[in-house]
Amino acid sequence: MKERLMQHAEPVVYLVVPEGFKKIVDLLYPMTYESAPDYSKIFEILDEICQTNNFDKTKCDWVGKFNNSMVSQKAIDDAANKTEDNICSGADDFEFGPKKKPKITRKMMNPGDQIKNGRFVWKIVNLLGSGGFGDVYRVFSETDKKKKNYALKTESEDGKKMMLRLKVEMQVLMAIQDDRKTNKKAVNKHFVEFVDRGKSDELKCKFIVMSIVGPSLDDCRKKYRVDLSHRSTPYNIAIQTLEAVRDLHNLGFLHRDIKPANFAVGIGSEEPVVYMLDFGICRMFIDPKTKIHRAPRKKVKFLGTLRFASRACLKCEDQGRKDDLECWLYMVFDILDEDDGIPWKNISDRDKILGVKMAFFLMKLSIVYENISRQMKTIVKYVDSLEYQSTPDYEYIIKSLLAVAEHCKCPVKDRRKVEWAGKLRKEDLEAIKRFDENSDDESEESAGSNESE
Ligand SMILES: Nc1ncnc2c1ncn2[C@@H]1O[C@H](COP(=O)(O)OP(=O)(O)OP(=O)(O)O)[C@@H](O)[C@H]1O
Ligand SMILES: [Mg+2]
Repeated sequence: MKERLMQHAEPVVYLVVPEGFKKIVDLLYPMTYESAPDYSKIFEILDEICQTNNFDKTKCDWVGKFNNSMVSQKAIDDAANKTEDNICSGADDFEFGPKKKPKITRKMMNPGDQIKNGRFVWKIVNLLGSGGFGDVYRVFSETDKKKKNYALKTESEDGKKMMLRLKVEMQVLMAIQDDRKTNKKAVNKHFVEFVDRGKSDELKCKFIVMSIVGPSLDDCRKKYRVDLSHRSTPYNIAIQTLEAVRDLHNLGFLHRDIKPANFAVGIGSEEPVVYMLDFGICRMFIDPKTKIHRAPRKKVKFLGTLRFASRACLKCEDQGRKDDLECWLYMVFDILDEDDGIPWKNISDRDKILGVKMAFFLMKLSIVYENISRQMKTIVKYVDSLEYQSTPDYEYIIKSLLAVAEHCKCPVKDRRKVEWAGKLRKEDLEAIKRFDENSDDESEESAGSNESE
């Protein structure tokens, strides 16, 4: 890619960097080991860039922000706390002072802590994950002789808006549960089971309990170093995650936060299955009364994750099923090639990300297809052709994925053959053992509590 940059063959670079830098590249490219750099020429070009772009050379972003050591440490801490996948906080990295909302300080639970709720006494085993609004713990019920493991997700009661996330999540999980009762077909296999819900006055949080799964796709890559781009695995993931999106859409919901951190692998006998998680910002696209597609709202607030958000979402337009598919596509490209599949990974400016995503759909980012098959362009074009109310042809996409995998000599023949099999850590293996030992009586265990919030 460096060679391509030096030859101006990477237009994506200049969606962010001012075009004027091309002159500096031209100056440096022909230089040899012994060449003396023409520093004054470089300064001249930099001046020219500042003039054409109306940059004020006398001003810089950090002025006045690091005079006080307390302030500078806080700025560094805040910047370090930004999540790797650019969850939009609405504030700049170094923005502080009265404008910034106070950080949420919530009480965390420790191993052995208990939450009593109706017939269940949930006992904390360990922390599984944390998000902006709550935490997810591995738990078991003290009243269950077999001590089967579940996942308990909390939402702290700080701030009214946040409360809605868990409520929405519960509504979606219950809709899935209802559909399972009536729908005997092989659908909904990529969702966890809803088990219990309640409120802890002591911890000032609401919680839901669901069946437990393994690490997220993001953790599989980052924590367990599993290469998800290996052979048929990325296509297998693409198909399974698309089935999850399809099944959720068929229940009338949009997910609106599709990304590798919101899909997880199964445990025990379900290890090769990919599960969809985090229904906290789902929205019904079907009007529950009229049963028809809702009309788009004129303007909506940005919600989601910058890196995976659709173009419409970045433009604060209302989202449809096509937008979930767009996020899904970014996720698939990221899994197919973690380095160059989505070349906006290191950009944090929303408008710039939008520009690069537009270039992605205009097929202007040649780097994307250096390691990814060009056959994927059929799917990119199809997703781009969808409109706000379009019903996507999920089966067409699945067929196309199977064809690409076949073309790349990585056919998805056996869905149970996955790259992460057997590569999870010890504590996960222990949970697997416990899960397998108790998997016979799953239906009996997963009955929901009648306690209301
Ligand atoms: N049922 C589960 N079993 C095992 N681990 C889970 C389960 N649910 C969530 N997790 C873990 O916790 C992490 C965070 O969960 P989730 O994405 O649902 O919440 P969140 O990101 O905090 O929510 P939000 O995006 O609304 O802030 C996941 O990435 C996953 O690793
Ligand atoms: Mg999440």
